[in-house]
Amino acid sequence: MSKILVTGGAGYIGTHTCVELLNRGEEIVVLDNFSNSTPEALENVKKITGKEVKLYEGNMIDREVLEKIFTENKIDAVIDFAAYKAVGESVQKPVEYYTNNVSTVLVLLDEMKKHNVKTLVFSSSATVYGDPEVVPITEECKVGGTTNPYGTSKLMVEQILQDLYKSDNEWNIAILRYFNPVGAHESGLIGEEPKGIPANLMPFISKVATGKLAELSVFGNDYDTKDGTGVRDYIHVVDLAIGHIKALEKLEKDGKGMHIYNLGTGTGYSVLDMINAFEKANNIKVPYKIVARRPGDIATCYSDPTKAKVELGFEATKTLEDMCRDAWNFENK
Ligand code: UD1
Repeated sequence: MSKILVTGGAGYIGTHTCVELLNRGEEIVVLDNFSNSTPEALENVKKITGKEVKLYEGNMIDREVLEKIFTENKIDAVIDFAAYKAVGESVQKPVEYYTNNVSTVLVLLDEMKKHNVKTLVFSSSATVYGDPEVVPITEECKVGGTTNPYGTSKLMVEQILQDLYKSDNEWNIAILRYFNPVGAHESGLIGEEPKGIPANLMPFISKVATGKLAELSVFGNDYDTKDGTGVRDYIHVVDLAIGHIKALEKLEKDGKGMHIYNLGTGTGYSVLDMINAFEKANNIKVPYKIVARRPGDIATCYSDPTKAKVELGFEATKTLEDMCRDAWNFENK
């Protein structure tokens, strides 16, 4: 058993990963400032697992709270989820995004170094590939060409981590590039709760299905894809959480190294596929209309998940039906 600091542990992917960590018998310490999450989400993690979570409420930019955490707990590894993630908002608020997504990590790394904690799993995104030259995307594909501060902030931290590892090979780092996380825990107790009108497809579909929003706008049907709508690699958030456990196991086993993994299913679904699957899985109508493309969107993005399969023994097992059913179950609770 080890003790793991989960920053941003009350958030969407954070809570699901906390559940998997606790189920595996790890002790966890969560740092969160609830800027885009709630204390109830952590209460629900405890409800699901019947286990305790030690919470520190604070901002990762605040060295004192990190100092307190590392002094009061013998932390073995850190999983860093603490970041802002709304693409549109990042264009409006670049300073806030770079501060919250990059400066905070520098403070975290400095504190980790000081306390000789050198094992880190970092939450990155397929957005670092920009508009991919080829699909499926392997980890060897070119990164860069990000079109918004959110994406660029992830790319910057990846670069910082690579430089850090070059400077000191004792570090033990896994960068995980998520494709499109969707769905929720089957209990319906935790899931994605965006504040305001959702920007991402699946939470938007759920809100339309409840009737809280009148219809879904499908952003463009003139892409070079099978039905003209955008194609993405949707991965169930519980599978994604398990990917973190596998990455941590790899780091524990190897002791040192710098690794990058795609976490996706390897299958691309279009927006219309998603609407149809949601309607079928939940027996409910999702009214939609086709509108203009959303600026910054790309046609197709899906992973080659081979590396994570070979090196981590990780494979997403949940189906599109599971994703749609669990998203709807959460929405209804
Ligand atoms: C977005 C971000 C990405 C981030 C990811 C997870 C962009 C360009 N990329 O990915 O950096 O890591 O979210 O938070 O924003 N769609 C509609 N109608 C909607 C919403 C979406 O048709 O109301 C379509 C989009 O055009 C796209 C697909 O659904 O084809 C998925 O969109 P979304 O869920 O926003 O994810 P991404 O854009 O892939």
